[in-house]
Parts: sequence; structure tokens; C-alpha cells
Amino acid sequence: MRQKLLVYVVAGTLLWSLVYLLVFVNRPNGSVRRTEETLNSLTEQLADLQNTLSQQNAENRRLLDALNKIADNRAVAAAAPAGLVAPAAGGGATVAAPVIAVLVFACNRVTVSRHLDQVLRYRPDPARFPVIVSQDCGDRPTAEVIAGYGSAVKHIQQPDQSDIVLPAKEKKFKGYFKIARHYRWALSQAFDTFNHSTVLILEDDLDIAPDIFDYFTSTYPLLRDDPTLWCVSAWNDNGKLSRINASAAELLYRSDFFPGLGWMITDKLWHELRDKWPKSYWDDWMREPAQRLDRACIRPEVSRTRTFGKKGVSNGLFFEKHLKFIHLNDRPVPFTKMDMRYLLRENYDPWFVDHVYSCQEVTYTELKARQIGHKDCVRIQYVTKDGFKRTAKMLGLMDDLKSGVPRTGYRGVVSFMYEDRRVYLAPRPDWTKYDLTWS
Ligand code: UD1
Ligand code: MN
Repeated sequence: MRQKLLVYVVAGTLLWSLVYLLVFVNRPNGSVRRTEETLNSLTEQLADLQNTLSQQNAENRRLLDALNKIADNRAVAAAAPAGLVAPAAGGGATVAAPVIAVLVFACNRVTVSRHLDQVLRYRPDPARFPVIVSQDCGDRPTAEVIAGYGSAVKHIQQPDQSDIVLPAKEKKFKGYFKIARHYRWALSQAFDTFNHSTVLILEDDLDIAPDIFDYFTSTYPLLRDDPTLWCVSAWNDNGKLSRINASAAELLYRSDFFPGLGWMITDKLWHELRDKWPKSYWDDWMREPAQRLDRACIRPEVSRTRTFGKKGVSNGLFFEKHLKFIHLNDRPVPFTKMDMRYLLRENYDPWFVDHVYSCQEVTYTELKARQIGHKDCVRIQYVTKDGFKRTAKMLGLMDDLKSGVPRTGYRGVVSFMYEDRRVYLAPRPDWTKYDLTWS
């Protein structure tokens, strides 16, 4: 009822404005002055916006500086693990270039070309990023599109096209069984047959950001040397424009939630997983404690992948309601010239906990009503599963949990933006572990 009333009021106001505008445009005399007034007010608003943005920028720079200082002090003192950084002049760190094989999953969508064109356009060096396209489904038109790339990509085809027999109630999920079967085969090809030691896993319906290869190159040493990391992902599950700081494209996080959708692992992890690889729902299986073993992934503030796969194995509703809003980064960051050691656990955790819990605690209502007298970060605390879900939903965040971990969460903390302010949806300061019953 109240909503209806609101709709009428809004519609009424709009209509009134329209009529006013028409009258105003048709009256030549007063219109010049009014246009001038409107222009002045617009200019003022623009100046305000510029101001806010530059403040936000300064805040980001301060944050990053602080992080880098911590990393310098701690990591240098603790002697960075061998090979983590190549010696570089002037304090900056450069990355010894690793070979990262790019494994693209395809099935029956000829639009794989949209993805492959971007991969070939953005990869800085074919020798460092050999591309394998693994095709399932045996679809001829798709096979022809891939073959069209000639020797620029290695085209392999999943040989087992046998039907998967399932009980009636699971039949509608057959696609997920096929995907898992394909993943097992293709990952084994990449690691066991072609002997790659690091693989970046992509899917045929992903757009990628121009700096994606720099991102994976620069985070590779972290993955190799920090045993508490098990992957690097290009995806922010809460990455829609209204919930991120799109100008903080350099900002990265550790995440206890496995994001997938453009992710890199090493052979060490594959050797651990290959013999128990699941028959279906491989991504949720990865999120189970028995596989994750408390390890984290690196993920960005601003996604380096975005899916355009409206038609696929899962229904298009999730795409329409959520996936299509994920913002793809368009401000390339020179990651390989940056010091990434702040993301090592020993540097990150003390800083992260300190930072999050030093932000003022507020309620959702105070945040929404703009009752906060400063522009710094704030924290909204959740105690129960339902409390988390309710608040997440109101804030337009993903509200689901897998094995107790909220999407993007690190130590239970979900980081996002709300009207130019950094907000952390966080458990109590004495948090120690996830409650596996939260789902
Ligand atoms: C969703 C996930 C996807 C994950 C999959 C498995 C999102 C946006 N996507 O798939 O990352 O891998 O669940 O749980 O959350 N494919 C095959 N064989 C098939 C069908 C599809 O290999 O029989 C390939 C596709 O080419 C594609 C990938 O598997 O590269 C995912 O398939 P898609 O149809 O895009 O399903 P999603 O619902 O996006
Ligand atoms: Mn998809």
C-alpha cells in the first residue's frame, strides 16, 4: 500500500516536472535566465561530485600507501620467500615472468569467439600465456569457430560424450554433471598431459578486462609462496557498480569464498584434487571445508571478468537479476610494477583485522538515513545467520553462504561501498571460525 502511494507520488512529480519543462521551453523570454540558473546549479553539483570523488581517491591512495608500508616493513624484515620478488632498483618490485597456461572451456556456443578475441588481444606474450581451448559437447559450428583461430590456440576435444544416467529428480541438473566431467578431463590435460605448472581457467562466456594478464602475473608469486592461498580469482561476487569503488581498481583482497569465474591454480592443488574430483557441482564442492582447508583466494575490488552467458546451464534469471550488473574493470592497473606483498597472510591479517574493527560501528538504519557525521569507513555487525542475510539483502549484496562462508567474505567480513563510503559487514571482533551450519 505504502509502496503504491510512493509510486503515485513519484509518477506525479515526474509528470509535473515534464509539464513544467514543456511550458518553460516554449516561453522564450524567461528561459535564457532559467537555463543559466539551471546551468549554475548543475555546475555547483558537478563541483560537489568532483570534490567527493577526489576525496575518495585520496582516501584510496592513503589506504594503499599504508598497506605498502606495512608490507615493506614486515615482509622485507622477514625476508621475502625465495623468488617472490626479483631485485629491482628503487624499492619497487618486479615479477619474474611465469608461464601461465590459459585453459578456456567451451561447449556449444559459437560466441566463444567473443571471449577468444579478447584473450588474444590482451595477452601480452603468447609464449608466456599459451591458450588451450577445451571443447565439450562435440558441437560442429563451435568447433569450426575454434578451428578458425588456427595455431593461435590449441584446440582439444573432450572425448567422452556418453550420456550420463541420472535418477529422475536429478535429470534437470545433467548439465552440471557434464561440466564437472569436462573439467576433470581438461584440467588433467593441462596439468598431467601438457605438464603446465600454472593454469588460468576461463569459460567461453566471459568478457575479460584488459589488465587481466597483469593481474594474474603479479599475483602468481603470492600463490606460489603463500601456503594459505589456493587460488587467485578475477571475480567479485558483489562487483556491481553501486557496491564497489570503481576508481580503486588496484585494490585487492583475500577471500575465504572461492569465487571461480576466471581463476588460477598451480599443479600442487590439482594433484590434491584430481583423485577426488566430484561428479557434479564442482564449484560448490571446492567451497567445502574438506577441499578448501581454510585457504583463501585473492580477488579484486573491481572484477576482471564478466559473464555474457545469458543462455547456459543455469537459468537466465540469475543472469538477469544479478550477473549482468557486475562491472568489468576499465582502468588498467600496472600490477606487475606494484608491490603485492601486503596480500601475504602474515602482512594482511593483522592489518585487515585492525582496519576493519577500527571503523565505527553503525546500524543499517543509521547508514541508510545518512546519520553518520564523517566520511570514513564504518562497520555493521552481524551475529546470526538470519541477521547477516537480512542486512546483506537490504544492502543489495549476495546473501548466500556456502559452508558458512559469505560470498567475498574474509574472516567473515564482507567489504563494499555504500554512497562513497567503505562499509564492512562484519562478525563480532572475537570471531574465530565459520559456522558450517550457516548456508
Ligand atoms: C555455472 C558457473 C560456472 C561453473 C558451472 C559449474 C556462473 C556464472 N557460472 O555455469 O562457472 O563452471 O556453473 O558448476 O556462476 N560446458 C561444458 N559442457 C556442457 C555444458 C557447458 O563444458 O555440457 C561449459 C561451457 O562451455 C562453459 C562452462 O561449462 O564454459 C559453464 O557452462 P554455462 O552454460 O556457462 O553454465 P553456467 O550456469 O554459467
Ligand atoms: Mn556461464
